Amino acid sequence: MNKIAVFASGSGSNFQAILDAVEEGLLQADIQLLVCDKPGAKVIERARDHHIPIFTFVPNSFESKAHFEKEIVNELKRYHVEFIVLAGYMRLIGEVLLRDFEGRIVNIHPSYLPAFPGKDAIGQALQANVSETGVTVHFVDSGMDTGPIIEQVKIPVLPGDTRETLQERIQKAEHRLYPAIINKLLQKDIIGGIVQ
Ligand code: GAR
Repeated sequence: MNKIAVFASGSGSNFQAILDAVEEGLLQADIQLLVCDKPGAKVIERARDHHIPIFTFVPNSFESKAHFEKEIVNELKRYHVEFIVLAGYMRLIGEVLLRDFEGRIVNIHPSYLPAFPGKDAIGQALQANVSETGVTVHFVDSGMDTGPIIEQVKIPVLPGDTRETLQERIQKAEHRLYPAIINKLLQKDIIGGIVQ
């Protein structure tokens, strides 16, 4: 099991970390496809630079989530994708994708879940004035950042931290953690927390 697709919506620094880990041999995976719901996102440039096939779509131009997820599933099947990595894909996964891939979809979230789920987890942590937050990698279910947790690390919030400084510290941890966890899951053939 090593054919993966990465889903992203934004800058793609985690996508880049995954690509780099593959190229350095630290992550034994073939990135078959980037799926992106924002046709102008920077992550698309990164995929193009590395000759990774891209499937980009405009969600609003579809009748429903089920309709665009059907298109995504068709693309995933075309590339024989077995495992999905969400890397800043800012959308809930719906029942069409879950039907075929539940247990084979992971997500990274910039908080120590269950604290601060959903959008702007870093802003939420700053607003709450906590002394530490974190990073969580988890399997994806139909909820908002609710699936079974695979691994978490704590990250301190330092006096004077701004969104930028805290995000930088969090993303540094994400870039180290995510490729290593993905590699472990793929090598051990772990689906939904169960070794196959
Ligand atoms: C990452 O920090 C990731 O944890 C977060 O989006 C950022 C994407 O950055 N994901 C979520 O908030 C999901 N709920 P990137 O595009 O530079 O990888």
